[in-house]
Amino acid sequence: MLENKRVLVVDDNTDIIGALSDFLELNGCKIFTATTGKDALDIVKHEDIEVALLDVRLPDISGVNLLDLLKKENPALAVIMMTGYSTHKDIIDAMKKGASDFLLKPFEYDNLIMVMIRALRERSLMIERERFSKSLEDKKKIEILNRELQSKIQELTTMYNISTQFNRLTIYDDVYEKMVSIAYDVLGASLSRFYFFDANSRELILFKEKKDKETFEEYILEPDEIYAFLNTGKRCYIKNDTLTVPIIIKGEVIGFLSIKKRKNTIEISPYQTENDIFFLKLIGEQASFQIENRILYESLFENVLKTHMSLITAINKRDFYTENHCKRVTEMSLSLADKLGLINVEKDILRVVGPIHDLGKIGIPDTILLKSGKLTDKEYDIMKTHSVLGQEILSQFEILSKESIIIRAHHERFDGLGYPDGLSGDNIPICARILAVCDTFDAMTTDRPYRTALSVEDTLKEIERCAGTQFDPHIVNIFIKMIKNGNYGK
Ligand SMILES: [Fe+2]
Repeated sequence: MLENKRVLVVDDNTDIIGALSDFLELNGCKIFTATTGKDALDIVKHEDIEVALLDVRLPDISGVNLLDLLKKENPALAVIMMTGYSTHKDIIDAMKKGASDFLLKPFEYDNLIMVMIRALRERSLMIERERFSKSLEDKKKIEILNRELQSKIQELTTMYNISTQFNRLTIYDDVYEKMVSIAYDVLGASLSRFYFFDANSRELILFKEKKDKETFEEYILEPDEIYAFLNTGKRCYIKNDTLTVPIIIKGEVIGFLSIKKRKNTIEISPYQTENDIFFLKLIGEQASFQIENRILYESLFENVLKTHMSLITAINKRDFYTENHCKRVTEMSLSLADKLGLINVEKDILRVVGPIHDLGKIGIPDTILLKSGKLTDKEYDIMKTHSVLGQEILSQFEILSKESIIIRAHHERFDGLGYPDGLSGDNIPICARILAVCDTFDAMTTDRPYRTALSVEDTLKEIERCAGTQFDPHIVNIFIKMIKNGNYGK
C-alpha cells in the first residue's frame, strides 16, 4: 500500500531516522532524510515528496513552523508530526497548519502504517479537490471568454448588417428614412428621428421618424442644448435615455440622428452605452457617405447630361425630324417599359438614351443624313455606323457606360441579322429591344421627304409581321396592346 511512496523523514536523532527508514523501505517507500529544518525544506523544494514525518523539535526550527513552510512549498504534502512528548497546544497548532496526523513516540510501526495510509488518502482527496476546483476555474474562464467572443461576434454581425443595409440602397431609396429605420431596428429604440439643422436660425426641423406604436410620450430635442453640445466637440449628446449624433456632410453639420432607448433597455451598462454610441455613429457615417456620394453623382450626372443635350441640340439643328422623333421614341419607350414591368434603373437608362439614341448621327455627313431620296447601299452602310459612333462618344463618360451599350445595340435584330454586332434574342439588352420597336413605329408613322407616313394600323401589322425576326415577340405583343388601347398615341 505504500509501494513507491516518496517519504521524507525529518528528525535530529539519526537512530530514529535509520530505524524508520529501514522499516519504510521494507514497505516499498522511497526515503529522503533530513536532520534540520533547512535540509528538509530544501528536499521538499526539489523532490516531489508525498509524505513527511516531522519531529516536533529540530535544532534550527520548531516542527510546527517547519510544517508551515513545507505546506507553503507543497500544499498537497501530507505531514505527520512525531514527538516523544507533546502538549495539546502543539497538536492544535500543527493540525491548524495542515498536519494530517500526530504520532507520539514511541509508536508502533503498525500504527505508523495506518496513519500514513490515512494521510495519503487525505492527500489524494486534496489533489482531486484542487484539480476539480481548477477545472471549475478553467470552466469559468472559458465561460467568460465565450461570452466575450459572443459579444464580439454580435458586434461584428451588427456592423456587417449596418454596412450591408446601406450598401443595398439604390438611388431611389430615401437615405434619411433608411438611416432612421436602421437606427431604430439595430439599437432597439422606441423612437428614432432625423432632424435637419439650420445653423443660421439654430432651428431643428423634424424630417423623418420611426417609433413604437405604444410610444406616446413626446421627446424634444432642444436646439439650444444641441447648439451648446456642438461647441463641446463631443461625438455624442447623451440626455437621460436619448443618444444624439450629428450628421456631417463635407465638414458641415446638416442634421442630427437621435434615438430614445426602449424602457426595458434603459438599465444599460456603460459598456452597452459605448456600443450604442459606436453603432449610432456608424449609422450616421454610413448615411453621410451615401448622401455625399449622391450629391457627387447627381452633379456629375447633371454635367454629363448638359454636355450631351448640347450635342443633341447640334444634331437637331441639322435635322428637325430627329429632334421630334427622339422625343416621341423616348416617351413611347418609357410607357412600354412601364407595361413590361421594368425596374427604375432600366427606365432611367431609357430616359437618358431615348433623346440621344441617334447621337452618332452627328458624325454622318449632311449629304447622307439630309438626303431626301433613298440612300444607296454605300450611303446606307455609312448611315449604319451611327450606332457605333454614338457609343464611342458616350463611352468617354464612365458614368454613362450602361447607356452607351444600349446606343450601340439599338439597331440589333431579334434574329441576329441586325448591326453592328449581330446579337440575337435576350443577348440584346432589353432597353435596346424596346427602342428598336418604338424607333421603327415612329419612323414608319411619320412623313419623310422620300415617302408618306403609313397608317398606325398598317404599321402595327408590319411590326407584328416582324415579331420574332426583327423584334422581340413579347415586346411586340405588349407594344401592340399599348397602342391599340390608346395608352400611347401619336
Ligand atoms: Fe438609330
